[in-house]
Order: sequence, then C-alpha cells, then structure tokens
Amino acid sequence: MAASILKVVGIAKSFGGVQALKGVSLEIDAGEIHCLAGENGSGKSTLIKVISGVHEPDAGSIEIVGRRLSRLSPMEAIALGIQVIYQDFSVFPNLSVMENLALNMELMDKRALMNWGRARAIAAHAVSLIGFEVDLDERVENLSVADRQLVAICRALLHDSKLIIMDEPTSALTKKEVKALFAVIKSLQSRGISILFVSHKLDEVFEISERFTILRNGENVAAGSTEELDHRTFAFHMTGREFAEASYKSDRAPGPPVLSVKGLSQVGSYEGISFDLAQGEILGITGLLGSGRTELVETLFGISSPDSGSIEIAGREVRMRSVKDAIALGIGYVPSDRLTEGLFLPQSIERNAVIGVLGRLCNSLGLLNRRAVAELMSKWIAELSIAAKDPSLPVKTLSGGNQQKVVLARWLASELSVLILNGPTMGVDIGAKYDIHALMRELASKGLAIIIVSDDLPEVLACASRILVMRDGAFIQELEPATTTESRLGELSTGVA
Ligand SMILES: Nc1ncnc2c1ncn2[C@@H]1O[C@H](COP(=O)(O)OP(=O)(O)O)[C@@H](O)[C@H]1O
Ligand SMILES: [Mg+2]
Repeated sequence: MAASILKVVGIAKSFGGVQALKGVSLEIDAGEIHCLAGENGSGKSTLIKVISGVHEPDAGSIEIVGRRLSRLSPMEAIALGIQVIYQDFSVFPNLSVMENLALNMELMDKRALMNWGRARAIAAHAVSLIGFEVDLDERVENLSVADRQLVAICRALLHDSKLIIMDEPTSALTKKEVKALFAVIKSLQSRGISILFVSHKLDEVFEISERFTILRNGENVAAGSTEELDHRTFAFHMTGREFAEASYKSDRAPGPPVLSVKGLSQVGSYEGISFDLAQGEILGITGLLGSGRTELVETLFGISSPDSGSIEIAGREVRMRSVKDAIALGIGYVPSDRLTEGLFLPQSIERNAVIGVLGRLCNSLGLLNRRAVAELMSKWIAELSIAAKDPSLPVKTLSGGNQQKVVLARWLASELSVLILNGPTMGVDIGAKYDIHALMRELASKGLAIIIVSDDLPEVLACASRILVMRDGAFIQELEPATTTESRLGELSTGVA
C-alpha cells in the first residue's frame, strides 16, 4: 500500500455563525491525483486553507508525511512540501516570470543582494521541469491565465513539493488549456508528487483523478476510487438530489413548423443551412467552436443578416433587421456568455427578470406596477427554483446557475414561440444544470420550440429530440439521440473517426 502523504481527520471550522467544515476527513497517498469535489460553498477552499496552515481548525487533526501536527503555520506547511495554487494563482503580475520564480528562493536563502545570474538559472530550471516555454523576462501580467498558472506551478516545484493543491484551476481556462494543464498534472505525478485537484466539474474529476472526496455543506458525503463512480452517483453526492435524465421526446402530434430555415448562408460563417422546427421540439445543434454554430443562431436572432436563403416564422417569410425585430416575432435568445451579454449585473434580480415585459407591467401613466412585478417574480422564482433570498438584490449576488435561470425567466415572462439557448449550462453547477434541462423539457412539452447549441455532448443527447451536427459552416448530419452515442457525435463534429 502506498504511504499516506496527508491525512486529516474530523476537521471543523466556523466563521462567526457559519460552520464551513463540520468534521471533515481526507486522505491522500503519495503520487496520487485526488479530486476534492463539491458545489460552491461546500467548504473546499476552507479545507485547503486548513491544510496549508492559513486557517487554524476548531477541531480535528492533521498528519503530513506521517507527522501529526497540532498546529500548522503556512511556512511549516511549505517546509513540509505542501504548495497551494490558489484561484487567483498568487503570482505577482507586475514582475517578470524570472522574478516570480526566483525571488522567493533568494529571499528564503536570506541573500541580501539579488544575484541575477543565479535568478535566471533558477527560473530556467523551474520552467524546464515541466517543459514550459516562456520568455523569462516577460511581465506576468502579459501572460494568459493558463501561463500564469504554469508560472505558479513551476514556482511550487522549486520548493521540493510533495503535495500540490490546485483550487479550481480550470475555472478560467479554455478546453485546450485544460488539456495542457492535465498533461502537466500527469507529469508532476510521474515525479512522485501528489495532487489535490479541486473542482466541481464532473468531466474533469473523471478524466484526471484516481480517487475522490466529495463535500456537501461542510461534510464528507462520499469518497473512493473514481473508477467506481458514475455520473449519476456523482451528481447525487454533489447535490443530495436524484436525477434521472432520459432522452427527450416530444409527445405532441407533429405540427407545422414554427420556424423554417431554407438555404441560409452567410459568407465565411455558414452555408446552405436548412431545417424545420415544430412546436414541442428541442433541436440540438452541436459542433466545435468555429463551426459556425454561434453565427447561425445569431442570425436567427437578428444580430447579423444572412447573405442568402430565407427564414420563415409560422409559414411567413420574415426579415429581421435587428434584435428588436426578432423579439417582436417571438424569438428569444440566451447567449453563452450570460455575464456580459445577458444580464445587467448591478441591477436587481427582479428587474433583470422582467425587463422584457416592462411594457406589460406598467400602468397607463407608464408607472411600474410593483405588485405585478412582485407577483410575476415570485411565480418564476418558484417555477425555476431560483435560490434567491430577495429579488431586489443585485443579480451579481447569485451563483452562475441561478443567474442563468434569471436569464431564462426573463424570456419566459414574454411570450415566445422559439427560444434559442447557446451553451445553456456552461460553467453552472450540476444541480442548476439539471434544473435547466428539466425546465427546457417542460417548456417544450408546453409547446415552445427550442434550439440548444452546445458542445456538451451528454447534454445534447439528454435534452434534444433531434440533433444536427455542424462542421465548417454546414450541417453534416442529422441524428436521433436515442440511437446515437457521445463518441459518434464527437467523431462527427471533429471529422476524426
Ligand atoms: N473567511 C470567511 N469568513 C466567513 N465565511 C467564510 C469564509 N470563508 C468561507 N466562508 C464560508 O464558508 C462556506 C464554505 O466556503 P468555501 O470553503 O469557500 O467553499 P467552496 O470553496 O467549496 O466554494 C461558505 O458558506 C462561505 O461563505
Ligand atoms: Mg472555493
């Protein structure tokens, strides 16, 4: 059996009245990649801060490399080989890569004067450890988030680390950068370093870790080998709720198309796109970034114009010159980046939700009917199970998943015939993700025609009644979710069989 590098037992920690950790245990072996999972607020960061000596626990014990410690300072944690890469990466943006890498070492050696030759050698050595190619004289603020993270990792390696803890390291990375980070994590592992990888994203947990620990509300709810974990169990432990996602099938009699697109082309974006969409259908459009999927749905929402082809709504050809035209035709759109495009963050939750129907909620003098707003709001808060204490608080106080639901609420408050969702659950918690899926199905079953654009293949398979795969600006195949698989979809969208 591998030796345990870290063993914490029964850790409790309160902040004022909030008990962030209620007796949590965690054990990591030498050379193991361990995932600490849990939804936002479950206590992951607090546990890390206890392990790294930042917070003193109220109760519990910490054992590092077999040494039981009653108290642990941050310096002791570092001396024992524990390094944390925090969410903000704790690098100095206004210093160069070299300075970031070498400064600590020079200071730790209590050298009064910086020896630049030595600093450069230290820095060059550090980046070579993970084969990181970077200009040592570049200021860190000019690097991408992913590269800043690599600087922090290289710095951690200079300290003879035994355990590197990464607190949600992928939250600001692209898919490609995540892949690169995973390769680095594997190479650290091959040097015998243990990794505690903190995440609430299911795919990442499955891809990178061997063992996992899941926290919920500051308590352990599950731990074990990732091999024995499946998606459904993971979702259950994360949220405490059972989810059953079968594929969606409309139970209405097929009706005439609400939306009919014929030979739609936009030079450089997409070409020859044709499809029909009827009431109660959920059309899934999947494809890689750059496949033209976003440009296409932006045209359907009047953001851009096609060069040729036609769009019909309820059998009548329409021309949309603006988003306003699209909304007037009963088309709604939730963009993938809700934070910048979809919401007015400093404004209140209720204002964001009702902004599309303000006209309807005003009296003849143009004054807002507060009671009508409150009634509509409480209806949607209940219907969407939006976790909001008070709808008059700014929308930015909500979690990502709940913000996304507010965006939906806004569209639902107006009368729509077609709702287009682009990446509807990107970056949201699992619980909110399933809520949004359930809501989409319910809306469709009530007669709304929905288009979801997503590269989350399990999501497309679970939600769509029909799937169109897009590649290089064209629809290359139509599929039935019930008879296709994730790997088939992946092959079709990448063109790699
Ligand atoms: N320094 C602090 N002061 C007060 N409350 C805190 C502090 N740090 C964390 N909390 C609370 O403890 C709980 C767990 O937070 P955290 O450990 O950050 O969760 P996670 O990292 O899993 O999202 C939350 O309710 C949070 O508000
Ligand atoms: Mg956290």
